[in-house]
Amino acid sequence: MNFWREIYPSLRTFAVLVAILWLAGCDVERRKSDTELGLDPQQAAGRKLYDNYCDRCHEPYSSHGKKGPSLKGIFKHQYLSLSGLPANDERVTDIVKYGRAKMEGFNQVMTEQQVKDLLAYLHTL
Ligand code: HEC
Repeated sequence: MNFWREIYPSLRTFAVLVAILWLAGCDVERRKSDTELGLDPQQAAGRKLYDNYCDRCHEPYSSHGKKGPSLKGIFKHQYLSLSGLPANDERVTDIVKYGRAKMEGFNQVMTEQQVKDLLAYLHTL
């Protein structure tokens, strides 16, 4: 009885701490370096573009969706998961440049070379 009354506050603090750590840990996975991912210079340049322009809406390494569908393994299947368009350089380049229904296009923002670099990175996902 006395024992529990004394230990209860610390138990509660402990439980709250565990809950906070668990919630914080849920979505935070350590970010891998370009070298760890084995990226060549072009793919690494593409990754920077991805981080700037795509990451806020598309997950690269997890399959859950953000505002847009995950792009994990985008070129590993024959068709894109959401639109069912063929998963090839031509279609994906068009989507990046001109956008889709709920996605803006990036042809005003990225040069042809940057789009190529980005595609090189997407092929590593
Ligand atoms: C503001 C959020 C947003 C940003 C930024 C964004 N997208 Fe999207 N993207 C979407 C949404 C939403 C869709 C689904 C569009 C639809 O079909 O209505 C989509 C669709 C796509 C698709 C087609 C997926 C499929 O399965 O059909 C590709 C590929 C894609 N985006 C790549 C990119 C790339 C690469 C970038 C960075 C240059 C990017 N997106 C930036 C929101 C975004």
